Amino acid sequence: MKILVTGGAGFIGSNFVHYMLEAHPEDRIVNLDLLTYAGNLESLADVEDNPNYSFVKGDICDRSFIMDLFEKERFDIVVNFAAESHVDRCIVDPGIFVRTNVMGTQVLLDAAKEYGVGRYHQVSTDEVYGDLPLERKDLFFTESTPLHTSSPYSASKAGADLLVMAYHRTFGLPVTISRCSNNYGPYQFPEKLIPLMLTRALADEKLPVYGKGENVRDWLHVKDHCVAIDLILCKGRDGEVYNIGGHNERTNLEVVRTILSALDKPESLISFVTDRKGHDLRYAIDPAKIEAELGWKPQYTFDTGIRQTIAWYLENRPWWEHILNGEYSSYFESMYGERMAEK
Ligand SMILES: NC(=O)c1ccc[n+]([C@@H]2O[C@H](COP(=O)([O-])OP(=O)(O)OC[C@H]3O[C@@H](n4cnc5c(N)ncnc54)[C@H](O)[C@@H]3O)[C@@H](O)[C@H]2O)c1
Repeated sequence: MKILVTGGAGFIGSNFVHYMLEAHPEDRIVNLDLLTYAGNLESLADVEDNPNYSFVKGDICDRSFIMDLFEKERFDIVVNFAAESHVDRCIVDPGIFVRTNVMGTQVLLDAAKEYGVGRYHQVSTDEVYGDLPLERKDLFFTESTPLHTSSPYSASKAGADLLVMAYHRTFGLPVTISRCSNNYGPYQFPEKLIPLMLTRALADEKLPVYGKGENVRDWLHVKDHCVAIDLILCKGRDGEVYNIGGHNERTNLEVVRTILSALDKPESLISFVTDRKGHDLRYAIDPAKIEAELGWKPQYTFDTGIRQTIAWYLENRPWWEHILNGEYSSYFESMYGERMAEK
């Protein structure tokens, strides 16, 4: 099989490339990535010379480039991870989210249709379902929960999902969609909650926690996510959506406290800052469909996963220090500088 992985230099994409090269040594992986601020080829340095792997720099929105690539490579499968993925950034600049997440998806769908791709898989998010009330622990997102987005990010991901389904219904394109909860694990860019808190705590810097830290996320280890996508590619039914989540709900404050305690750092580092606009309260996935149909079960509890993740960041300091020394530090200043000064 020849598989196009878009966004393979990002957090989940790079984990997926590693996973697939190991799990399916008979397959060929082409990683297409624009290398935005979030794309980092250092995450793939160890597979650069693997004969079953190649990297192409390019934009999923660039129609003629994408058509040429599909003409040349004749992919069997497309897995689309490429996206603008950080909610804080969509509040500053929604336009790039619509461009990449919606229009880029449409270009890929057109190419998949034109060149008869056997399966187009869209990596989506549970955020398309909106949020759940904090006090209703009995409620979970299922695949039939209505789309009800809160942010330009989730609206752009929902728009892409609707296009994917429309290409299935209208043109018969073989598609699947997965909607997962918050991922964590190695190679996550240090703007997201876990690596942000971890790297700042290691430097004894204040940890900015939105609001009261009560928002609940359902944490999914990235390796469990990769296994789930692989199962969907192998056994998932065309035209279906699969929710992926590990029943690992934690408040943001619980996550931050877990990190501080693992690093033996004081809770006085926590600094509660003005909440994110439109901040979703709780996400919680019901993974019953993927468990029953495809036999998927998460292998990581949050406790084992977070311990391994902390160990990975401690053992791989150069990876994240290179990021922190570059563009990221000015981004951090623009995002949190004023809020921290308010304290
Ligand atoms: N991280 C999570 O917790 C999470 C949860 C649910 C869903 N998702 C979805 O999973 C996917 C991957 O998320 P992630 O956390 O790895 O994101 P990421 O931001 O780490 O990586 C995104 C990658 O896409 C690339 N990219 C951006 N624009 C591009 C373009 N126009 N053309 C080609 N490449 C482009 C970037 O360079 C980067 O390598 C996204 O679609 C995201 O919406 C992520």
